[in-house]
Amino acid sequence: MMFFIDTANLDQIKEANDLGILDGVTTNPSLMAKEGISGKNNQLKRYKEICDIVDGDVSAEVISTDFEGMIKEGIELSEIAPNIVVKIPMIKDGIKAISHLTAKGISTNCTLIFSAGQALIAAKAGATYVSPFIGRIDDTNWDGMSLIEEIAEIFAMQDFDTDILAASIRNAKHIVDAAKAGADIVTCPLNSILGLLKHPLTDIGLEKFLADHAKANA
Ligand code: E4P
Repeated sequence: MMFFIDTANLDQIKEANDLGILDGVTTNPSLMAKEGISGKNNQLKRYKEICDIVDGDVSAEVISTDFEGMIKEGIELSEIAPNIVVKIPMIKDGIKAISHLTAKGISTNCTLIFSAGQALIAAKAGATYVSPFIGRIDDTNWDGMSLIEEIAEIFAMQDFDTDILAASIRNAKHIVDAAKAGADIVTCPLNSILGLLKHPLTDIGLEKFLADHAKANA
């Protein structure tokens, strides 16, 4: 399973990249706004900065919601760097745009997926990735992880090449559960990735090893 980081914060991207486990980055307009990045030039500049840090795929989301606008923006974003993936919302014109960009050889990530049907039509249109939003489904008292399982079953049965990118990850358990459910990629905040490292028995065990070593070598 691949690990992407879900942020537009350069320090966090560098920190995850330095761990040697980072395969890519996803951003969205809310994450860009959180970093205080506004205006088209600053947004394009930030995508370029991210692509300079990470070799893997970097999802950059369009703002337009009409076909022509999404194509124009998508082509412009794809010209920033070869590892840019154009992130397109799951709407009717979005599916049209994914088909069009796929035919042009441009990678796409269909975002805001909340049902297996949405994932199916995005895959049919040729999306490189589909992004089901686990945490937001859990927030509505439904089971986000069962959606990953359902999509994984359909894609395997129907032999789709589209990768399942589990998004809206809120904690380390989500990452483990997404791996078990068949996600190809998880995109997570840095804290959720770092949460995978933690166990109290590891801390207690290490403290004891070091104390015993210190005693024996006093
Ligand atoms: C990433 O592709 C998504 O936009 C992101 O994971 C959404 O996460 P959120 O539900 O925590 O905003």
